[in-house]
Formats: sequence, C-alpha cells, structure tokens
Amino acid sequence: MELLGRFWWWPVVLVLVHFGNKESDCCEWEGVKCNITTGRVIQLTLNWMVSRSEESGGGRYFNASYFLPFKDLQYLDLSSNLISGWIPNEGFDKFSALSKLEVLHLDYNNFNNSVLSSLSRIPSLKELYLGSNNFNGSIPFQGFESLSLLSKLEVLHMDANDFNNSILSSLSGIASLKELDLSNNNLNGSIHIQEFKAFSNLEDLYLNGNEINDFSKTKDSNILSKLQLLDLSQTKISARILESLVAFPSLKTLYLAYNNLEGPFTNKASIPSRAAQLDSSLP
Ligand SMILES: *[C@@H]1O[C@H](CO)[C@@H](O)[C@H](O)[C@H]1NC(C)=O
Ligand SMILES: *[C@@H]1O[C@H](CO)[C@@H](O)[C@H](O)[C@H]1NC(C)=O
Ligand SMILES: *[C@@H]1O[C@H](CO)[C@@H](O)[C@H](O)[C@H]1NC(C)=O
Ligand SMILES: *[C@@H]1O[C@H](CO)[C@@H](O)[C@H](O)[C@H]1NC(C)=O
Ligand SMILES: *[C@@H]1O[C@H](CO)[C@@H](O)[C@H](O)[C@H]1NC(C)=O
Ligand SMILES: *[C@@H]1O[C@H](CO)[C@@H](O)[C@H](O)[C@H]1NC(C)=O
Repeated sequence: MELLGRFWWWPVVLVLVHFGNKESDCCEWEGVKCNITTGRVIQLTLNWMVSRSEESGGGRYFNASYFLPFKDLQYLDLSSNLISGWIPNEGFDKFSALSKLEVLHLDYNNFNNSVLSSLSRIPSLKELYLGSNNFNGSIPFQGFESLSLLSKLEVLHMDANDFNNSILSSLSGIASLKELDLSNNNLNGSIHIQEFKAFSNLEDLYLNGNEINDFSKTKDSNILSKLQLLDLSQTKISARILESLVAFPSLKTLYLAYNNLEGPFTNKASIPSRAAQLDSSLP
C-alpha cells in the first residue's frame, strides 16, 4: 500500500476529469477517443503508464472513482500497469456506475482472485481481458462463479495465469460466452467435452499451451455445437483427437501446430469437412 498515489498517470486522469463538460478539449490526446457528436470520452487507453524501473515490489493500487466522471466510457484499457488491486472501498464495483462500459482490459497486471467478485458488478461488460495476472484456479472458486452475473459477457480471456482443469466447472455459469481463451495455463490430462456443457454459445476456444493430451466427446452430446475455432496447438494432444473432432458440426478453424501427432494418422477423412482452415504440423 506504500505506493498509493504514485502512478504518474493518476494526475493525467485527474486533469481529464477537471475538464468536466469540456471533455472535447482532450479528445485529440493520445489514448483518448471521444464521440464526435457529443464530444464526450468513450475510450481510454492507459496502458504502459508505469515504467518497469519505478517498480519497487509493493504492488500498485488504484482508485476506481477517478474514472466515474466519464459516464459515456465504453472501452477502458488499463493493461500493463503492474496494478495489484484497489485502495479500500474504491474497487471495480464503482464501475457499475459506468453503464456503457463494455470492454475492460486488465491484462499484464498483478490482479489475483480477490478482485473477481467486484468485477462481477459491472453488468454492461461484454469483453473482459484478464490474461497474464496472478489468478489461479484454486479455492476459493466463488470468485469465478460470480462472473456468471455478467450476463452480457461474450469474450473472456484468462490466458497465462495458473489455472488447472477445475477452472472449467467454476466458469460454468457464463452461457453468453462466445470466446474463451484459457491458453498457456496448467490444464492437463484428458478434458471431456462434458466440461463445456454450460457454454452453449461458445464459438472460439483457445486451449493452446496446456498439457492436454485428450479432448474427448461423446457421440450423442450436443455440446459445443456452435464451436467454429479450436486452438489445440502446443499441447500434448494425440492423433486420436481427430476422431473426436468429427462431432463438432460447426468447426471451421483448427490449430494443431507444435504437437507430436503420432499414431495412426491415415483417416484424414475424419477431419470435419467444413474445417476449411487446418493449421497444423501434420507429418
Ligand atoms: C455518439 O453519441 C450519439 C448521441 O448520443 C449516439 O447516437 C451515437 O451512437 C454515439 N456514437 C458512438 C460511436 O458511441
Ligand atoms: C478516490 O477518488 C475519489 C474521487 O476522486 C475521492 O473522492 C476519494 O476520496 C478517493 N479515495 C481515496 C481513499 O483516496
Ligand atoms: C491478492 O490481492 C490482494 C489485493 O491486492 C492482496 O491483499 C492479497 O494479499 C493478494 N493475495 C495473494 C495470495 O497474493
Ligand atoms: C491462489 O490464489 C489465492 C488467492 O489469491 C491464494 O490464496 C492461493 O495461495 C493461490 N494458490 C496457489 C496454488 O497459487
Ligand atoms: C486445481 O488446483 C487446486 C489447488 O491448487 C486443487 O485443489 C484442485 O484439486 C486442482 N484441480 C485439478 C483438477 O487438478
Ligand atoms: C494433472 O495435474 C495434477 C495436479 O497438478 C496431477 O495431480 C495429475 O497427475 C496431472 N494429470 C496428468 C494426466 O498429468
């Protein structure tokens, strides 16, 4: 907490706030985008605002209330700022007042599971980027279940954290999801398609960079029937995978690069015929 207030960009935000109803004066600034009709700020890109050399170990905390004057904000990018959390009572739950906020980039910070319940109080969110933070899939899971309150959420990126297979059951309330990125985590072993039962609208699924060796599907299930893109590159997947892929009726793009696909590989006909784009290191 000793670094409280030491972001040099906080004053920048305050200056923006100070403009009040003259927001249009700052519309030309880098990282600021306004609605041309209303002159009000709709996008703020405040990433890489903290230089690595300033880092002194304690983590950085921010005050969500600083953003509240931007009532029309739709897009906020706070990625790559080494943020660990918020100062007391000034967390993401304050963003519930930003009723137009749809896209929130928090990737490349130091957030952990403790922020999840407050993130779930931003009902307007459609895209949430949480990659490369300190999240993990261990107890308490309650944090992830609370994300199911985000009933408009379509894109969720949770790549490069520390999740294991348990993350799938803890996310299972978010039926609105169309894109889920769980790449570069610690998922391992065999993943049964049944785990995705609740993700009925999922179109793009990224599981690359995990130690998965099987992705099995039962014949009669109607799970992941809208899946169009599946990234299984750099996993430990075996050639047997091709048999289970037949069951994805909507699959168009399949990434299988950087795998050791060994074994009987003669039945290429089992690749779904609609898989128009097949990127792989097929022998
Ligand atoms: C800009 O504001 C006008 C008036 O409120 C609105 O109709 C329009 O959709 C907005 N445009 C964007 C890109 O948000
Ligand atoms: C957070 O920011 C708001 C708005 O500027 C301010 O009123 C509040 O006192 C700040 N909270 C803390 C703990 O500094
Ligand atoms: C999680 O983040 C909160 C807020 O920054 C911090 O107080 C807590 O110590 C962190 N927990 C772990 C296990 O690092
Ligand atoms: C996972 O995160 C929680 C909360 O942030 C923490 O208490 C726990 O120690 C972490 N577990 C592992 C295995 O890193
Ligand atoms: C995931 O990790 C947590 C603790 O780190 C553990 O309790 C849980 O059993 C793990 N789940 C799986 C499927 O390995
Ligand atoms: C997956 O990871 C868990 C915990 O990390 C371990 O207990 C289990 O043996 C692993 N399973 C496989 C198939 O590697």
